[in-house]
Amino acid sequence: MTARFPVARPRRLRSTPALRRLVAETRVRPADLILPLFVKEGIEAPNPVSSMPGVVQHTRESLRKAAHEAVEAGVGGLMLFGVPEVKDERGSAADDPAGIVQKALRDLSSDLGDDIVIMADLCLDEYTSHGHCGLLTPSGAVDNDATLERYASIAVAQAAAGVQVVAPSGMMDGQVAAIRAALDRAGYTDVAILAYAAKYASAFYGPFREAAEGAPQFGDRTGYQQDPANALESLREVELDIAEGADMVMVKPGLAYLDVVAKVAESVYVPVSAYQVSGEYAMVEAAAQNGWLDRDRVILETLTAYRRAGARQILTYWATEAARLLR
Ligand code: PBG
Repeated sequence: MTARFPVARPRRLRSTPALRRLVAETRVRPADLILPLFVKEGIEAPNPVSSMPGVVQHTRESLRKAAHEAVEAGVGGLMLFGVPEVKDERGSAADDPAGIVQKALRDLSSDLGDDIVIMADLCLDEYTSHGHCGLLTPSGAVDNDATLERYASIAVAQAAAGVQVVAPSGMMDGQVAAIRAALDRAGYTDVAILAYAAKYASAFYGPFREAAEGAPQFGDRTGYQQDPANALESLREVELDIAEGADMVMVKPGLAYLDVVAKVAESVYVPVSAYQVSGEYAMVEAAAQNGWLDRDRVILETLTAYRRAGARQILTYWATEAARLLR
């Protein structure tokens, strides 16, 4: 008798949780996750970020507590962002040894040692009065090469404060080379660089601008961040950053750019990270608050999608919580 029924039945391997677990192609581990944290100078208590329910601007003390919780949950890394009390044209607080990020880095490295990887965002937008990621020319354009000198100095200040990985996010040409040279000259040859290599000019950064207080006061970032229309350009950016000495590369944002994550992951041999940015977080939290989505399932599903696309590490504001869900 000829077979009247399907011979191949992919459903067989979906029939029990144990079978599904056994054949799962992708897994997310707590150690894959990196938690971005904001620390603000001069506040007495943590300051909630209204567009990111559950996320706060930390005091130095509350930052230490959040970092400990991340370690307890098995999170792989922390990415620190500083919000200074005083901003100026050149972002002086960014490389001030007494600046908020440097103080917080000293706290974290003495508290945590090697229990978690301590990273810091390396940029100027949180520190400049105009909110751009670099120094401005008299006519108001972002001056690429003058900015590189500032980035080099910030990298050395962060390294002196105990950072293990610096993460340049300003999208200036040549930033990785400038930072590598400065770190090496200062003797910090073991401080690694996680380059925000493919970073798009994205509306998904909206809530971050409240969290880090770094919205541009005029214009936008389309002159230095990438056009969402381009994917091949990301391969070029990544290739340049690796040639300049990047140890790891990042694609950002993530969810709307998983095609880029996949392309990059297939084309390079360094760890590829992706950033689940503030707008992705806000969308899910808002929908969940309305009862429109199953929040925890969506969190785990998106993290799985990042890993499936090829991201080895995922920066996510849910890192501690997701790590607990995964255990
Ligand atoms: C720049 C920086 C930004 C983010 C991380 N680093 C903002 C920007 O480029 O405009 C966004 C992160 C997020 O949206 O979660 N220092």
